[in-house]
Amino acid sequence: MCPDDLKIWLNHFEYHAGHPRRIPDGLEDVLRPEERPLIARSIAAFQLGEQSEGVTLLHAAQRFSQRHQLPALVRIVELFVREEQQHAMLLRAFMDDHGIPLKRRDWTDQVFRRLRRLAGFELYLCVLITAELIGNVYYRALAAATGCQRLKVLCRTLVADELAHVAFESQLLLALRTVRPGWARALTRSMHRGFFAVTASVVWLTHRSLLRHCGYDARSFLRLCLAQYAFYLAPVESAIAPSSVS
Ligand SMILES: [Fe+2]
Ligand SMILES: [Fe+2]
Repeated sequence: MCPDDLKIWLNHFEYHAGHPRRIPDGLEDVLRPEERPLIARSIAAFQLGEQSEGVTLLHAAQRFSQRHQLPALVRIVELFVREEQQHAMLLRAFMDDHGIPLKRRDWTDQVFRRLRRLAGFELYLCVLITAELIGNVYYRALAAATGCQRLKVLCRTLVADELAHVAFESQLLLALRTVRPGWARALTRSMHRGFFAVTASVVWLTHRSLLRHCGYDARSFLRLCLAQYAFYLAPVESAIAPSSVS
C-alpha cells in the first residue's frame, strides 16, 4: 500500500467524519413480540463489540506508521475508531428506545480485546477484520429477517460502513503479506482462516437462536462467512475471461 492509497482512505474517513451516519426519523419502529427476546442479548453483544476507545489500536498504529513512514495512517485510525463509536451510539439509541439493556461484559468481546492487545498492528488487523466480516454477515441476516424498518435501515447503514472498513483493512493486510516469501504467506493465510472459521462457529453458537430465526444453520452461516473471507483475503486465482466479442 503506497502513500497515495492512504490519501484515498484518509479522504474517505475525513468525509464520513464530517457527515456522520444518521438513521432517518419517521421510520416504522416496531419490533414484533417474538423478535425482542430473540434479538435483545444478541444485539447487545454486537453493540458492546462496536464500542471501544481504540487506545491499543492507536498505539499499535503509531508504532507501525513510524516504522513504515506512513503518517496518514494514525489519522485514518483515529477517524475509524470514531466511526465505530458512532455505530455503538446508533445501536444504543435503538436499544434504549426498545428497552433493551446494554451489556457491560461479554466473554466473546473479552477474548477479542485480549487477543488484540497481544501483539502489533498486523495481528490487531487480523482480529479486527475477522470480527467485521462476521459482523457484516450478521447485520445482513438481521436486516433481512426483521420486520422493523428502523432496525433494517440501521443494519444496512452499519454494513455500508463496514464494507469500507474491511476493504481498507484487507488492502493493508494483503500489502503486508505480499512482501513475505510464499511459504510464509501461505502459513499466515491458513492460520488466519482457521482462526476466522473458529470465530464464526463461536458466533453461530452464541447467537444461534437469532441466526436460526434469520434462516441460517451452523453450516450455511459458516459457508457465508468463509465466502466473505475469501472475497477479501484469499489470493486471486481466476482472471476475467477475455470477451469473445471482437
Ligand atoms: Fe462497526
Ligand atoms: Fe468496522
